Amino acid sequence: MNLMMRRALVCMDSAQLFAFVMASLLLLFSGPGTAAQSSSSAPVDDAVIRQRVDALLKQMTIDEKLGQLSQLFPFGPPQSINDAVTKQQVGSLLFVTDPAEVNRYQHLAIDNSRLHIPLIFGFDVIHGYRTIFPVPIAMAASWDPALAGVADAIAAKEARSVGIAWAFGPMLDIARDPRWGRIVEGPGEDPYLASALAAAEVRGLQGDYIGAPDHVLACMKHFAGYGAAIGGRDYDEVFIPEAALYNVYFPPFHAAIRAGIGSAMSAYMDLNDVEATGNRWLLHDVLRDEWKFSGIVVSDANAVRSLENHGFAKDASEAALIAFRASLNMEMAIGFTAYSKGLKPALERGEISEQQIDDAVHPILEMKIRLGLFEHPYADANRSKEVLGNPEHRIAARVAAERSAVLLRNENALLPLAKTAYKKVAVIGPLADSQIDTLGSWSFQQDLAETVTVLSGLKRKVGPQAVISYAPGVQLSRKFPSFFDALIHLEPQTAWTPEQANQEISRAAALAGSSDLTILVLGEAQNMTGEAASRESLDLPNREEELLESTVAAATGKPVVLVLLNGRPLNLKWASEHVPAILEAWYPGTQGGNAVSNLLFGDAIPGGKLPVTWPRNAEQVPIYYAHNTTQAPETQGQRYWDEESTPLYPFGYGLSYSTFAFSNLKLSRHDIKAGEAIDVSVEVENTGAAKGDEVAELYIHQHFGSTSRPVRELKGFQRLTLGPHEQKTVHFSLGKDELTYWSTPKHAWVQEPSTFDVWVGSDSTATLHADFNVMQ
Ligand code: NOJ
Repeated sequence: MNLMMRRALVCMDSAQLFAFVMASLLLLFSGPGTAAQSSSSAPVDDAVIRQRVDALLKQMTIDEKLGQLSQLFPFGPPQSINDAVTKQQVGSLLFVTDPAEVNRYQHLAIDNSRLHIPLIFGFDVIHGYRTIFPVPIAMAASWDPALAGVADAIAAKEARSVGIAWAFGPMLDIARDPRWGRIVEGPGEDPYLASALAAAEVRGLQGDYIGAPDHVLACMKHFAGYGAAIGGRDYDEVFIPEAALYNVYFPPFHAAIRAGIGSAMSAYMDLNDVEATGNRWLLHDVLRDEWKFSGIVVSDANAVRSLENHGFAKDASEAALIAFRASLNMEMAIGFTAYSKGLKPALERGEISEQQIDDAVHPILEMKIRLGLFEHPYADANRSKEVLGNPEHRIAARVAAERSAVLLRNENALLPLAKTAYKKVAVIGPLADSQIDTLGSWSFQQDLAETVTVLSGLKRKVGPQAVISYAPGVQLSRKFPSFFDALIHLEPQTAWTPEQANQEISRAAALAGSSDLTILVLGEAQNMTGEAASRESLDLPNREEELLESTVAAATGKPVVLVLLNGRPLNLKWASEHVPAILEAWYPGTQGGNAVSNLLFGDAIPGGKLPVTWPRNAEQVPIYYAHNTTQAPETQGQRYWDEESTPLYPFGYGLSYSTFAFSNLKLSRHDIKAGEAIDVSVEVENTGAAKGDEVAELYIHQHFGSTSRPVRELKGFQRLTLGPHEQKTVHFSLGKDELTYWSTPKHAWVQEPSTFDVWVGSDSTATLHADFNVMQ
């Protein structure tokens, strides 16, 4: 990038920058690649692929075929992995990220083998690779699928440059219980928003076709229902009725398949008492038969062997047989796979056939061919350095963090803050100066040193005019440690003595008292949300609530802003009444601190919306906006006698730096027949004097039919940037896709004659209303 362009970029506001970055990145990601970038510049013809796979299968021995079905982590004695690769006992490795190691393993696999079949390297590319983007729930909060697609395309390019051709994302688990730690990794609670994101993410990761240059194979996970873990406890069983599976949990996966995804990962838990990884109904009848998915199904780590733990198989060999018969192609494991133990004897006993093995191997070879791995199996370390260091990727990460932040409260338009108004700024909270906690979980390959914390972002922004002082106030720690801490090399911290801990809270409060602006940065440490990071409470952890309340008390009416870094709704009851401005920044990634300071000081506009319902406290959970209509709708908000049963913030909620009005809701027709479509239009006006972002959200409700229907369901949305007093007309289409649902009594997808409500507005409590009929 030349100097002039850099200057121009600095002067652009968030929306302009976004448009610029999108345009240049889209160009970048759709351009043809060079041979060294791997892959082909046009999709390979299906018939050619089939011929190549069949020709290979004809030459392969049973052992070579079975080898393709195993995927190993490189953990454990290196010699055993080297041997397994050299003897073609594995088709794939994961968690190998050094290009030199990729190439070393690839040589072991290819050089002395008969058929030179390359390995495919997989990795958890969840929200970036070197450039870390906001966590997935944050990307969902942008209500901007194209943005998610750009982030994924960058992640794919960076990962591919080191030799990783398979990303274990997108994670598409709908989650309606924020106690579940993995809510941070997914799209939130709503199937419509999640499906839009799913399609964009598949396109972002895979490009226009599997094998597009600088892209990777995507893997939707965890199929299916993992997000409904009972009690929010990770890995525990899930009970989901048929209607909820089809109407809520399945749609994002189906959308990913329609977008051309090439692989899927089975889930860990029991679904309605049948383990998901051995669930033939799920993996075969739904995935293959109903949805015509022909890609790879890989297990989650050790999930095949775990069939034994579940009491679903008597030993590893039986586990292998069950998973194989359920239609699982590849087993991911640490150490050894059950497939490597159980499948050959099962073949010899005649329990499975060679044809079944060929069918299981087919998509694995197919993807390797499509991805161009036979022609370009090696990583180019020099090119990788260039790709990983690309400054445009960091700009995109900053824009993504700006667009995914959600402004929850802004009393008397405290935000944006004036840059020159404050001479003494207190920055308080344990997350304000922690790089790892700015990134969130599933960040492994980041450059920690370049990660911008909120404190450093603020120093860059207002440092020259103001004295910025920092106090952490509290230390954060889990009661039970996370096994991921070792993976990210988290340094153990020396715990403060109880006396020190008290002093630190007092010191922080005193700092707020002597400053003219306080910015609190609270939330959860990155290892408090993610896999194996469920919790019983949603309270601010450790002593953060005490820190918050004593800081606000000490600030004695001077402005206090709360910035949240977290991956799930937290208990903000007190904050929502006493802190004038609250910005949900999630885990914003590599550029998080710059994004947050741009937002606080008006160089960027907040416009994200909640992709989840925000409960008042954990006791309300599960709570979601699309609950059914019931016999006493008028008391729906007062089901509990000791607390409202409405949430603290509704699904779809978020403020901006201006105000908006929705008007003139028009439907093109009042009566339609099943299969016909209606155009819905609405005018959105920025009624304030500042530029702002708004999302027009459309919800419907079906009055009557063969089952109860949700009080509201999102069926359209559009994010807009509007200048002062600017007005735009937004159009939505409601047709068969939006009006069809799975009816359990009819055991079918139905579009029923009924009356439908339509609301359009700025969140799921929108009041602007119209209705129409679907006639017999
Ligand atoms: C376990 C996780 O559940 C899954 O999401 C991940 O892709 C695999 N491990 C591989 O790391």
